Amino acid sequence: MSDPERPSRTAAVIPAAGRGVRLGPGAPKALRALNGTPMLIHAVRAMAASRAVSLVVVVAPPDGAPEVKHLLDEHALPERTDYLVVPGGDTRQESVRLGLEALPEGITTVLVHDAARPLVPVDTVDAVIEAVRDGAVAVVPALPLADTVKEVEPGAPGAPEPVVATPQRARLRAVQTPQGFDHATLLRAHTTVTGEVTDDASMVERLGGTVVVVPGHEEAFKVTRPLDLVLAEAVLARRRANDGF
Ligand code: CTP
Ligand code: MG
Repeated sequence: MSDPERPSRTAAVIPAAGRGVRLGPGAPKALRALNGTPMLIHAVRAMAASRAVSLVVVVAPPDGAPEVKHLLDEHALPERTDYLVVPGGDTRQESVRLGLEALPEGITTVLVHDAARPLVPVDTVDAVIEAVRDGAVAVVPALPLADTVKEVEPGAPGAPEPVVATPQRARLRAVQTPQGFDHATLLRAHTTVTGEVTDDASMVERLGGTVVVVPGHEEAFKVTRPLDLVLAEAVLARRRANDGF
């Protein structure tokens, strides 16, 4: 449970060091523009929109830290939000660890948020933070699946693959970010767990920690392939139109 003696302080770590291979050739994914503003800036603003977030740590492409720092200096954030930029690593996991190493003393709650999910609404961010403050050590926002999922025996690309199992769809969730953690728990996970993982919460699971799911949001989708850029710009256009009324 949260300690009433210790004030909670929340920081967000934003891994943004990936190349974006699936998006195709061009600048690193986080620096690609959505309606004229870099995806990373949208993601940073999405974290800074929460009043609880006092610090944002951006993990930049390994050779892109000065450029990212310059971008952040150019784009205003709320006054209550500080930011730091550190260079990232070869894998997402390593980039997150480098971001965690940059956190100052006194941070109790950490969000880890993909730069590639630039449009997550602040209500989702706040719901994750609240669940951590209410005592969960690891919280992930997630949505039910639209598609049925098959487990297969992977074969050569394009070749037919035998189906091994069909998990019951109603029990499956597609996981998003920001994922929220008790700071000490996430640090322990990142210093203990080795091997490939695709999200931070699974590292806590491996340590035997309890991870809980809260409702995610369809606008928290990950920009992965070219069509996702079209969808992201459509969401921004819809927001702009709605703000006009
Ligand atoms: N990421 C990172 N460091 C890496 C790899 C990924 O910080 N070495 C970040 C990405 O910048 C992204 C998030 O992790 O914000 C989620 O990763 P993903 O969507 O897979 O992005 P990329 O790895 O850049 O894309 P791809 O896998 O298509 O190359
Ligand atoms: Mg990747």
